[in-house]
Amino acid sequence: MKGLILSGGKGTRLYPLTYTRAKQLIPVANKPVLVRVIEAIRDAGVDEIGMVVGHTAPEIQAALGDGSRWDVSLSYIPQHSPDGLAHAVKISRNFLANDPFVMFLGDNVIEGGISQLIRDFADNDWNSQIVLKEVENASAYGVAQLRPDGSIERLIEKPAAPPSNLALVGIYMFDHHVFDAVDAIRPSARGEYEITDAIQWLIDHGHSVYPHIHRGWWIDTGKPTDMLEANSHVLEETVPCVAADAEIDARSTVDSRVTVQAGARIVNSILRGPTVIGQGTLIENSYIGPFTSIYHSCQIRNCEIERSIILENSSVIDIDRTLRDSLIGRNASVKRSAVKPSGIKMNLGDHSTLWV
Ligand code: G1P
Repeated sequence: MKGLILSGGKGTRLYPLTYTRAKQLIPVANKPVLVRVIEAIRDAGVDEIGMVVGHTAPEIQAALGDGSRWDVSLSYIPQHSPDGLAHAVKISRNFLANDPFVMFLGDNVIEGGISQLIRDFADNDWNSQIVLKEVENASAYGVAQLRPDGSIERLIEKPAAPPSNLALVGIYMFDHHVFDAVDAIRPSARGEYEITDAIQWLIDHGHSVYPHIHRGWWIDTGKPTDMLEANSHVLEETVPCVAADAEIDARSTVDSRVTVQAGARIVNSILRGPTVIGQGTLIENSYIGPFTSIYHSCQIRNCEIERSIILENSSVIDIDRTLRDSLIGRNASVKRSAVKPSGIKMNLGDHSTLWV
């Protein structure tokens, strides 16, 4: 069995963060989503992984290298234009050869990993297995309509009037028959070769596609609110740990659900978990509440922060209102100004949003 991770795409809904960074490299609980995907595939016993990359290829390659850090072997497969998930399968044919494979979208985060799914696929002679999840806004996804016996009747990509609330999760298993499907389908109305159409083709041509209904949480981290939600879920499952060289002074209270990474310093502060404080970060005279991930080399002084993600080298200093439900990029600085006249002053990137 091989793995195929799709990590192209522009990530427009995460602008401005994704102007300068591949969306799959944004960390959730201080670990890039893409690394979580690699680990999920590896933990299911698959170590030969193809990484389909678009215009952010250099950044992804620099971050992941040959994969040996995670005990996997990564091969990079360039996709020159974002022509759809089925197109990504098409161009990966040489890498996949005739092996069965699991395809995982590099921005999906799922509870419980995929080991059981891979075992089920190996133990049955299905041509494909898909994963479905009940959602509230099904028209944002591929949607499955099942028959009373649980088999798939039809799959539709982003229907205006969804026939069910079962969304297609971005994790799919295929055998080599999928290549006939991706060769046969035509581009959709949005101009992409849809994997949903390829799976429908398999069903229409008598191949077996098994729908697994996932009961745990699943998040497609397309928007800032999704990132915060994924961050909360993953933090809740994280086994907390305080690095040996982290410094927590006697005036600080750090509860048992807080992870403090190497070289971080906590001074006169209150930290309530689940929360993670990154390498080399300073937290001083502050309150850090649940569901917060502060990445490496940040400075947080005289602030209160809850349920937020702050990326590396950023600082939040002397803010007298609680910062919550916020996503702050790299090298950003949020400060109180002592200069008169007072007022709100900002220097925001394109497509930024500020709520005051
Ligand atoms: C893609 C698939 C869709 C699936 C979703 C899951 O959508 O086309 O069927 O439900 O991933 O994340 P996209 O991210 O291309 O909008």
